[in-house]
Amino acid sequence: MRKLYIAGNWKMNLVPSEAAEYAASLAKAAKDADVKVMIAPTFVCLPAVVEAVKGSSVIVAAQNVNDHESGAYTGEVSCKMLKDIGVNTVILGHSERRQYYGETDEFINKKVLFALENGMDIDLCVGETLEEREGGKLEEVLTRQIEVGLCGVSEDQMSKITIAYEPVWAIGTGKTATPEDANNAHAFIRSLIERKFGSTVAENTIIQYGGSVKPSNVKDLMSREHIDGALVGGASLTLEQFLPIINCNK
Ligand code: PGA
Repeated sequence: MRKLYIAGNWKMNLVPSEAAEYAASLAKAAKDADVKVMIAPTFVCLPAVVEAVKGSSVIVAAQNVNDHESGAYTGEVSCKMLKDIGVNTVILGHSERRQYYGETDEFINKKVLFALENGMDIDLCVGETLEEREGGKLEEVLTRQIEVGLCGVSEDQMSKITIAYEPVWAIGTGKTATPEDANNAHAFIRSLIERKFGSTVAENTIIQYGGSVKPSNVKDLMSREHIDGALVGGASLTLEQFLPIINCNK
């Protein structure tokens, strides 16, 4: 039985003082939540947010990480730095990193392998653009993103990996994939994982949906067989909207 995993990707929002205040309220409010809860603030907010949720079950994640141990990589942050402040989870391959910062599947794979070597948990994002969907390329794109993104990952390491299916056209646009469409894409992703890692791994892998998830659509999405959680952007920025989302199965 897969436990629901609800994550908030704060993207480039909230300054450290706002982030800490919100995180502290969320930690209290999430105490009785029946789901796994994660929040991903910007790098500069991480120390304050880790402190604010201390003692709670809220997981704090980074939105990105470098694929080297240390050295001359101006502007980058390493796994070791994250782990030193108590951050053991990272989002990789988000469509905004692919789209605006040229991250390829091969590059994302390097980060996946390096983060795994460093014992980190990973939320790996995949998803097609509108053009790809309309061009009938959904399965081809997901196959490439999963095959290349998870190349070299072992069956055992898959317990450290969550997949987030985020159709690019549904991110921040208010357009949500229908629960049927999302569930079909999730079922396809699960079949790819089964082909690569076997049925036990496929059964246990959490596949989140992301793209305009909000209090009004979360229950319907989460009720589908292959949807095991959500990666929430805009609606994760206030407790007012995020709380009903993490309480979606109550
Ligand atoms: P959104 O973003 O909920 O604002 O659409 C989701 C995401 O990009 O993770």
